[in-house]
Parts: sequence; structure tokens; C-alpha cells
Amino acid sequence: MQTPSALSASSAAAHSERPALPMFVSAGDILTDLVRTDGPHWTSHPGGAGWNVARAVARLGVPTAFAGAIGVDCFSDDLWRASDAAGLDLRFLQRVPRAPLLAIVHRTHPPAYFFIGDASADLAFDPESLPQGWTGAARWAHFGGISLARAPLSATLSRLAAELRAQGVRISFDPNYRNVMEHGYRPMLETMTALADLVKVSDEDLRCLFGTDEDTALDTLRAMNPAATVLVTRGSGAATLIAPGETIAAMPPRVEVVDTVGAGDASIGGLLFSLMQRPERGWRDHLAFALAAGAAACRHAGAHSPSLDEIVALLE
Ligand SMILES: Nc1ncnc2c1ncn2[C@@H]1O[C@H](COP(=O)(O)OP(=O)(O)O)[C@@H](O)[C@H]1O
Ligand SMILES: [Mg+2]
Repeated sequence: MQTPSALSASSAAAHSERPALPMFVSAGDILTDLVRTDGPHWTSHPGGAGWNVARAVARLGVPTAFAGAIGVDCFSDDLWRASDAAGLDLRFLQRVPRAPLLAIVHRTHPPAYFFIGDASADLAFDPESLPQGWTGAARWAHFGGISLARAPLSATLSRLAAELRAQGVRISFDPNYRNVMEHGYRPMLETMTALADLVKVSDEDLRCLFGTDEDTALDTLRAMNPAATVLVTRGSGAATLIAPGETIAAMPPRVEVVDTVGAGDASIGGLLFSLMQRPERGWRDHLAFALAAGAAACRHAGAHSPSLDEIVALLE
């Protein structure tokens, strides 16, 4: 057992050696999903697409942070604890005395949802309060989801993405269509696509964001930034990776699906991991890894972050 003095000595040591700054930062989307389980009964789950991407990358061993703001309430306490358990760098998770952002999922089949959070904590995210020097350590930053459709957070995030890009941090973007993007989202879609080195969309994102068939939507998206690498996922169907000089299609591994919550987040997380940690590999391998990560997430309930072993097992 540690004595109180040993405890204070070890925490002093922890303070003098500050942990290294993260190599990967996902910013913006963090919320609590309140899901109706049956009749008047509801369950809360920590969530947010960007937060899921951060957990996916952290699970694979990359020093990672989720950058955003949560409240000081019971739901936000759960988000804090889950972030800590996921190994995220908590210096990037800000707490402000405002109401939590809630996604009310009142029907799951087919999904029906709305958001509560008119002046909520997420909107108060302040990039100026992030640890000093972090932009110099980050290699990739990820943006997307409803945070880019929630003023004034949306402008804060797109400004941050532009600053990061100017400093040589690579930008990943997954719009992740939600009904709050039905009106007025187009300028943000154009801005973020233009800033991105990597864009991830699902077939459904393409159809809903552009209101056209998938091929026309993809052409419109690519015209916004012809240099960007684009990953198009299609659930259990073939995904396409449009990379500099090559376009590759591949099928995800077949798995027994428990649910597909967070599959897209796991797939872009897997792709980012592969790009950061396996740079010697080619695009075909990067795509295979991303698809295996997405499929591995489907084998468990909720937004499961698959381990490296789970993903590798599906590659073999
Ligand atoms: N039914 C499924 N079987 C196997 N893999 C799946 C399935 N659904 C999703 N995935 C994996 O997750 C990835 C992303 O799923 P998709 O549904 O296209 O995205 P999103 O979750 O963003 O809507 C797919 O490319 C695939 O790798
Ligand atoms: Mg998605």
C-alpha cells in the first residue's frame, strides 16, 4: 500500500514530467445520446461522432486527444470518465457551467432523433485554452459531425482547421449527415472539404448532403477539392478510396453484426491510424485496415472501439 507521502511524491513526479502532446486530435462533436429503450424508459450513452473517432484512434495506441467542451452535470461526468477510460488526453476536454448537449433518440428503427442544446456546453469550446504548443505536436486533426452545424462552435472549429492546416497539420473531415444540416450547411461543407486532406463520406451522407444520386454527389464533392483523398463507405457493400493517382474498391470483411453504431467513426479512425503508424504501406492496405476496423465495430453493441488484435484478425 502506498503511504500518503508516497502518493504525493508520485503525483509530484507526474506533474514534472508532463505527458507528451497528442499526435492526433479530434475536435468538436461530443454529446450524450438519450435512447428510448421501451415506452417511458431511456438509457444514456456517451457519444458524438468526433469523440468516437478519438476513442477509435486512442484504442489503437496513438497518443490522442478529443478537443471540445462538456458541462458539469451527471451526463458530462460520464463523458469525462469514459474519455479518461479511453486514454484520451484530458487536457483537451474543457468543462464549463452550461447545460449538456443531448441527442434524444426516441425511436431506433428507423432512427428518429432531435437535439437539445441551445446554449449548451459544447458551444463554449475555446481553442485558446488548449495546452501550449499542441499544434506543433499534432500530425492529423479530425473534424465533422453536428459540431460544424452549431453556431458559434462551427465557426470556431473551421477557423481552427484553417490555422492547423496553415501550420502543416493534416486535416480529416467526415461530415456525417444529420437532419440539422438540412438548411444552411453548404458553405461549411465547402469550406471544410477545401481544407481537408482526407474526406470520409457514406453513400447516405452523399445522397442526403447533396440531394442527388450518389455519383453526382461525389462529383460535386470532389470538385470542391480535387486534391483531397476521399473514402466512400457503403455499409456492408464495397467501399471506394479515391487517392492521389489511384482509385481502389474493396469489400469490408463479413461479420456477424450486433449493430452498426459508430462503424463509420471506427473506419475513419482505422484509416487515420494506418496512415500515421503504417506510412510505408500502400493505399490498398490502408483501405483494408479501415474497412476491417469498421466491420470490427459492428460486432459489438454501441460505438465499440476495436483493438488492433480484433482488426488484424479480420484482415487475415
Ligand atoms: N453490415 C456491415 N458489415 C460489415 N461491415 C460493416 C457493416 N456496416 C458497416 N460496416 C463497416 O463500417 C464501415 C462504415 O460503415 P457505413 O455504414 O458505410 O458508414 P457510417 O457508419 O458512417 O454510416 C463500412 O465501410 C464497413 O467497413
Ligand atoms: Mg458516418
